[in-house]
Amino acid sequence: MGNKILVLDFGGQYNQLIARRVREEHVYAEVRGFDKITVDEIKREGYRGIIFTGGPNSVYAEGAPSFDKGVLSLGIPVLGICYGHQLMAHLAGGEVTGAGATSEYGRVKLKVRHSPILEGVPRESICFMSHTDYVKRVPEGFTVTADTDVCSCAAMANDEKKLYGVQFHPEVTHTEYGKTVLKNFIFKICACVPDWYMGSFCKKAVADLREKIGDGKVLLALSGGVDSSVCAALLAEAVGSNLTCVFVDHGMMRKDEGKQIREIFENRNVNFMAIDAGERFLSKLKGVTEPERKRKVIGEEFIRVFEEIGKKIGAVDYLAQGTIYPDVIESGLGASATIKSHHNVGGLPDFVDFKEIIEPLRLLFKDEVRQLGRELSLPEYLVERQPFPGPGLGIRVIGEITREKLDILREADAIFREEVERAALPQKASQYFAVMTDSKSVGVMGDDRTYGYTVALRSVTTDDFMTAEWTRLPFEVLERAGSRIPNEVKNVSRVVYDITSKPPATVEWE
Ligand code: XMP
Repeated sequence: MGNKILVLDFGGQYNQLIARRVREEHVYAEVRGFDKITVDEIKREGYRGIIFTGGPNSVYAEGAPSFDKGVLSLGIPVLGICYGHQLMAHLAGGEVTGAGATSEYGRVKLKVRHSPILEGVPRESICFMSHTDYVKRVPEGFTVTADTDVCSCAAMANDEKKLYGVQFHPEVTHTEYGKTVLKNFIFKICACVPDWYMGSFCKKAVADLREKIGDGKVLLALSGGVDSSVCAALLAEAVGSNLTCVFVDHGMMRKDEGKQIREIFENRNVNFMAIDAGERFLSKLKGVTEPERKRKVIGEEFIRVFEEIGKKIGAVDYLAQGTIYPDVIESGLGASATIKSHHNVGGLPDFVDFKEIIEPLRLLFKDEVRQLGRELSLPEYLVERQPFPGPGLGIRVIGEITREKLDILREADAIFREEVERAALPQKASQYFAVMTDSKSVGVMGDDRTYGYTVALRSVTTDDFMTAEWTRLPFEVLERAGSRIPNEVKNVSRVVYDITSKPPATVEWE
């Protein structure tokens, strides 16, 4: 109750980003789809403020997402962003139009007048715009508080009712004073107090889990990724030896990853089982070259392994999963139609006899999960681990997966990551790895002709992994990787760097 912000999602691409930005100010924010919550529920929940997100182009379009206008009379401050700003104008009796050349996209000069929500924003600054329609006439009781060269209402305010709209996107970093606007809203207008810290979340989560689980038995499938590892550490803290962690090493982990997971969890006060199933997976993958088929084979084999373990362990009270907030939003709580196509390991619950699923991280964004991991003293290399697909290196080996190819890839990948990590990069590299292509080519070493594999290097820069740019890595980094890999890894004669962005390419090669 209280001290939390509702992000009412109208399907904009930045919905999660808005909630993250609020939480970065240590105020809890949750995302709910416009069709998943009612005005009465909003009242009952006791939010201190509401943010309407962006969304589709026009509030007048057939089927355009809308909301009960009673939300504007609850006495709870509202900030409308982009489509949310237009919707607020529309609901309150103003006029929105798409006529005329007011379309703006990208960085735009914003000119502001005095308004509590714009306090601290200079008279002129840069904001990020992405809109076609605009508010032509503000509703009664509102005043225009900012404009741009082409948009006569870049912000509006009704101070008495604490209703504010901004046509620009304060949540994206291109908006120079976006953070100021959000902070004004959260603290000055909504009077929130900062109390969302991972340290206190951790203490409370441990206490709640203890109370819930009591002497019950919990089973967790540990993949070695950040989420399941943090989930394991949290549960270990809460229920210690009542937790059994099962780590299935499918033989397609990166260099030393399996060893590191074992080291971390064998030393915690939990029942830790590591299953070395590399051979099993490889034999199932023999002759399989089609990427989707590989994913299926790996997924199915995972389930088989767990089925067997489940039988051995017998009934448990709880099955724990490292589900995090974006998964929760994407599986239907939010409004945007993001269909998640990647699943780590699906289907486990069918095979394990348990009473209930617990998901202790379901309210947390990735950066918060990492922070929680630090609170739980997990090592930095694990907490900072980049995303890694469930099927592991299996999808980074093109063509048939063989032990030889996996071994080559592991070494090449480790070298590349080492080189990227020790360089000062002009641009953030969000994910970087090596790919084992299926093509061999002629090379020369000393006096000998060689015929080895081509390793591809991939590095992308992105915030959300839905789109990504190839990272402009310094030539020195590429040079060192290009020289070390064929020298240090047997059977590699060529190294190439992938310079395609997503789209049209994807991050993974598969
Ligand atoms: P793509 O290749 O679709 O990848 O552009 C986008 C991001 O998703 C990661 N990825 C996965 N993550 N399970 C996951 O948890 C998977 O099966 C999977 N496949 C791809 C990929 O590494 C990138 O970060």
